[in-house]
Amino acid sequence: MHNKKIIIIGGGVIGLGIGWQLAKAGAAVTIHESGQAGRGASWAAGGMLGPIAEAHIDELDLLKLSNESLARYPEWVDELETETDMPIGYRAEGTLIIGIQPDDTYQLRHAYTLYQDLGLKVEWLSGDEARKIEGALSPYVTAAIRCETDHQVDNRLMVQALQHAYQKRGGVLHQNSSVDRIVIQNGTATGVQTQDGFHSADVCILAAGCWSGQINGLPDNIIPPVRPVKGQMLALQMREGVMLSNVIRTVKARYPMPVYLVPRGDGRLVVGATTEELGFDTDLIVGGIYELLHGAFEAVPGIYELPLLETWTGLRPGSSDNAPILGKTPIENLIYATGHYRNGILLTPITAYEVSKLVLTGETSETIAPFHLDRFSKE
Ligand code: FAD
Ligand code: GLY
Repeated sequence: MHNKKIIIIGGGVIGLGIGWQLAKAGAAVTIHESGQAGRGASWAAGGMLGPIAEAHIDELDLLKLSNESLARYPEWVDELETETDMPIGYRAEGTLIIGIQPDDTYQLRHAYTLYQDLGLKVEWLSGDEARKIEGALSPYVTAAIRCETDHQVDNRLMVQALQHAYQKRGGVLHQNSSVDRIVIQNGTATGVQTQDGFHSADVCILAAGCWSGQINGLPDNIIPPVRPVKGQMLALQMREGVMLSNVIRTVKARYPMPVYLVPRGDGRLVVGATTEELGFDTDLIVGGIYELLHGAFEAVPGIYELPLLETWTGLRPGSSDNAPILGKTPIENLIYATGHYRNGILLTPITAYEVSKLVLTGETSETIAPFHLDRFSKE
């Protein structure tokens, strides 16, 4: 039994995931969530668990962390589903990264060589081989990379299950409770200030997604460098002839922009996403939706006949090097778990397991050490 009193700021996948693990260990945890839990980026996401498709040559620490988190996913899903009896739509069919025009194939080859150099498990397919796996792909698809291990989860189901699991373990959730200030006295975080007054804590965890840099009370030099990166998304209803089972991602050398199509178990096909540096703007724009539909239509022409179910936007919490900010800060008892950018759903298990361990033991594991805030001051 741990008798630490912990406050988490933010009730997205990250705050709820850490909160659940801590509550499970017997800690007294309270989450303050400014709106409704799980309705930020965690609701907007595509749910892809794609370390390979999202890999970049200059982000090798992030690739390692992503692979470790992916490896923990089966255990995570089992633990969460057993605890809640709520399925979270984990699917292991894999991902096809496809090229349509000749220049795309050149770009795909380049990516394939990189993946091989990095020792990632990938397979090169011709267009016909790709269509044998997904019959609805366009006849113009020239080639594909199969990433068998890039899976997916239904992030909306996951965040609902996490909220249930957290509360079932005794975690307290205050919704519509915005943290205005982190209170710091003599270099130590002592609690938070909300509209209801001061709430004391032994440990405060900042997990407020793209809003993490906006909370008062932090000295300038430790404000987390996290910004909102807008993504427009839409969902279609799959029908016979267009029943995908793999995640499809396009590579585009030129026009239109690259898109992904994520088929859910319930027949929804999630299509995303724009990447826009527009601050906290969340407007849906005709041009964004047009680009998504154009890209999706080039990959899978049969979508032309599908009903459009929903459109939405979300704000990714992007850090200045695209990797999350995890662990201790120069302020005693203040821990960061933010900046998960494009991969926060993928990185939820590793973040929840490692940050909760840090809170309970005081020890930073080697896994999260490269992701400390202090890496920015070393630059
Ligand atoms: P959020 O879910 O945004 O939660 C933060 C919470 O903090 C919010 O609920 C907010 O209301 C609350 N909050 C803010 N300020 C305060 C305050 N002052 N007091 C109290 N509470 C506060 N990741 C993947 O792994 N795979 C994907 O396919 C994928 N696709 C994406 C597609 C889009 C369009 C977007 C937008 C994101 C995508 N992501 C994906 C990224 C992923 O969604 C995020 O990295 C992840 O959800 C971040 O979780 P979070 O809990 O940190 O943030
Ligand atoms: N990881 C997909 C996205 O951020 O759009």
